[in-house]
Amino acid sequence: MCEKCKGNYYITTPIYYPSANLHIGHAYCTVATDTMARYKRLQGYNVKFLTGTDEHGQKIEDKAKEAGVTPQQFVDNIVLGEKGVLDLWKLMNISYDRFIRTTDDYHVAAIQKIFKKMYDNGDIYKGKYVGKYCKPCESFWTESQLVDGKCPDCGREVQDAEEEAYFFRLSKYADRIQDLLENTDYLEPRSRVNEMVNNFIKPGLEDLCVSRTSFTWGVPVDFDPGHVVYVWIDALFNYMTALGFENDKYDDLEAFWPADVHFVGKEIVRFHAIIWPAMLMSLDLPLPKKVYGHGWLNFNGEKMSKSRGNVVDPYVLSERFGVDALRFFLLRTFPFGSDGNFTNELLINTINVDLANDLGNLVSRTTAMNQKYFGGVLAVGGESAELDSELNALAEEVMANYEKHMEAFQFSNALSEAFRLIGRANKYIDETAPWILAKSDETKPRLLTVMKNLCECIRISAILVSPMMPDSAQKILDLLGVPENSRGWNARCYCADSEAVWNTSTGAPLFPRIDMEKELAALEELSKPAKPALEIEPYAEETVDFDTFCKSDFRAVKVKDCKNVKKSDKLLQFTLDDGTGTDRQILSGIAKFYKPEELIGKTLVAIVNLPPRKMMGRESCGMLLSAIHTENGEEKLNLIMVDDAIPAGAKLC
Ligand code: MSP
Repeated sequence: MCEKCKGNYYITTPIYYPSANLHIGHAYCTVATDTMARYKRLQGYNVKFLTGTDEHGQKIEDKAKEAGVTPQQFVDNIVLGEKGVLDLWKLMNISYDRFIRTTDDYHVAAIQKIFKKMYDNGDIYKGKYVGKYCKPCESFWTESQLVDGKCPDCGREVQDAEEEAYFFRLSKYADRIQDLLENTDYLEPRSRVNEMVNNFIKPGLEDLCVSRTSFTWGVPVDFDPGHVVYVWIDALFNYMTALGFENDKYDDLEAFWPADVHFVGKEIVRFHAIIWPAMLMSLDLPLPKKVYGHGWLNFNGEKMSKSRGNVVDPYVLSERFGVDALRFFLLRTFPFGSDGNFTNELLINTINVDLANDLGNLVSRTTAMNQKYFGGVLAVGGESAELDSELNALAEEVMANYEKHMEAFQFSNALSEAFRLIGRANKYIDETAPWILAKSDETKPRLLTVMKNLCECIRISAILVSPMMPDSAQKILDLLGVPENSRGWNARCYCADSEAVWNTSTGAPLFPRIDMEKELAALEELSKPAKPALEIEPYAEETVDFDTFCKSDFRAVKVKDCKNVKKSDKLLQFTLDDGTGTDRQILSGIAKFYKPEELIGKTLVAIVNLPPRKMMGRESCGMLLSAIHTENGEEKLNLIMVDDAIPAGAKLC
């Protein structure tokens, strides 16, 4: 079949708020979308994969103010800056085709036109807003929608809100939306449909407040200065403006709209399942074919947030485990539609079991045996056996099941299928025992076919895991010497007969085994809050009266001699000129910080009217002043040194 004839495929991720530091939970959806986009490209679709950033709203305005920059500077920094959103997607190997920023001029102008169109057709009207507003979620709520008086999405406090505002006639579309949700496949998984219908539609859909006047960081309503467009209206239409809707920047609307699927997290399903289709209905536009609401990743049973530290930082995790292993783990472990619990144990275990033991081992054993028995070249010839057809049949079955699961966005099931083949191939090695076949020339033709079957299983497995682990899959195919035209979806038919030839090589292990205990300890260390770089002693709470303080006699002293004290690794013994004509001896516990010879000739400060005391049998008459602090957990000490022009004995006050 011609790879170019499959048609267009449009897939999107939610556009990210640049207000929150992105953690591995955020990366989850984008990795899943990327996997689907790669899978569709592999199948020969002309894919458009859109992602971007949702940059307006009060939250951003507030954060920028806190940071002392303009909102635009604030979002630019998080999107474009070092380790920003763009950097992260590059690191995670996200193959998006288009990146939209809602502050892009073309989008802003398009939103103004869209808002005006809905105003002109009567679906947006001016009224007065009285209700509740959740600032962190940027959501308006009616009293009846609150849960225990708090935001039903995040559980936080809501504020009273009353202002002149524009409204969208959401109520008008209630029946059509209910019908859409209940009687079509628009929203998946199906469990989310009941949630939407029971929690939002049945209690009665109220008109939606779609403008704000209490802040300015948004798309201005151009026909009514002072109003900015509600951030969700602005955000949702990104899916179309990024294709050229109401703008000349792009020209892909006809080819790619309606979208094949919007992947979104469960807490924003409401916006995509109710508000989005209603607005499209208002403008008489085709609806997206599907919205898929995926579950949330929690961390050790709790809501994930960047404040949990490095262990949820995709940069840190990618650096320690590799990008492909991390991507694989996310998709292999958690069924896409449900919530999942991310733990470090699970991550390491998945890498060790699936990648190091199963896939990695299969590749390294096979390529090493090819090298050893055939110098890496599997030529025409061989001898088949019954067992091979079993492997062949399993491979066919796995490929069919894999496709079924991928079409349903069930990445973990699709990967389970791939690993069924990988597991079977490992068992095939044990059953055929190539090392025994290699012992005699008579069994060499059989050995040749066994190795061809193994290579073929690996080739197919690599194609199947390539959307999840693009780099590793290519490395595996490179090791097997698979030509470009045998790496695509259409080349997935099983072929290990006598005509097949292979030219393989060996390489370093693809997925080194991780020492669970050591790695957990290292991660534990990383999750501890970083030690403050600089710590100073707490200030004394007790006051000292002025007269008492004045009794302390501080003098400039010059170091005539300084030496270590025998049998002490702490003490230095100073002979000092204190201006009286008689040498003064002071012992100080600072040997760890200075070498004696460094100090000779220096002018220091001593308190000289302390009662003499004995240290290691020697008398110390006074104390040298020094400054102490802690740096990166290490104690630091600096003797107070004053200008050498100050004569010995000068009083300091
Ligand atoms: N800006 C909106 C989306 C607008 S789309 C027109 C938004 N942004 S977000 O940055 O807060 O979230 C982006 C996506 O990350 C959402 O789909 C959200 O569900 C997802 N996740 C955030 N934390 C997550 C987990 N811990 N686990 C899985 N996904 C999570 O919402």
